[in-house]
Amino acid sequence: MSSVAVVPGSFDPITLGHIDVIERATSLFDEVHVVVVHNPDKHALIPIAHRVALIEQSLAERGLQGAGVVINSWSVGLLVDYCTDVGASAIVKGIRSQVDVAYETPMAIVNRNLAGVETIFLLPDPAHAHVSSSLVRQVSALGGDVGPYVPAVVAEFLKHTTD
Ligand code: PNS
Repeated sequence: MSSVAVVPGSFDPITLGHIDVIERATSLFDEVHVVVVHNPDKHALIPIAHRVALIEQSLAERGLQGAGVVINSWSVGLLVDYCTDVGASAIVKGIRSQVDVAYETPMAIVNRNLAGVETIFLLPDPAHAHVSSSLVRQVSALGGDVGPYVPAVVAEFLKHTTD
């Protein structure tokens, strides 16, 4: 039986830190679903369909698309419902700091209680420890260079979005 994992997030936009985690997940699971989830607690910059397209292009650039990687969006219910639908046994999240541990732990426990889906925390390359989508959005909005933090297609997209 093949192992399936879900890497969920707002991905607003996808960063090099996200890609690092997705790449690590692909070495642990046969099939990895990268899922853009609507987070009602956050005000999004990029429409979900565009976020999906940016993920597709970013992963294709790295040869990750199609190699057991599925890209999707989910906005109709619980994340664990998506996991159940695709037969995923685990949710994979990247942990950059203790702040992430505090943010992720309650969600991981609730998801396990809801549907028995475990969450696996992966440590990204420390080179990406300071990278977040919100910082990227802010730097881009104020005219700074986000090239070191995001795939080239995302940097290009943001340049036109925030011009
Ligand atoms: O990138 P983010 O915004 O930190 O991702 C958080 C996200 C979207 C993965 C999280 O909010 C989520 O799983 N939302 C889905 C709704 C849900 O299932 N909530 C209950 C369990 S946490």
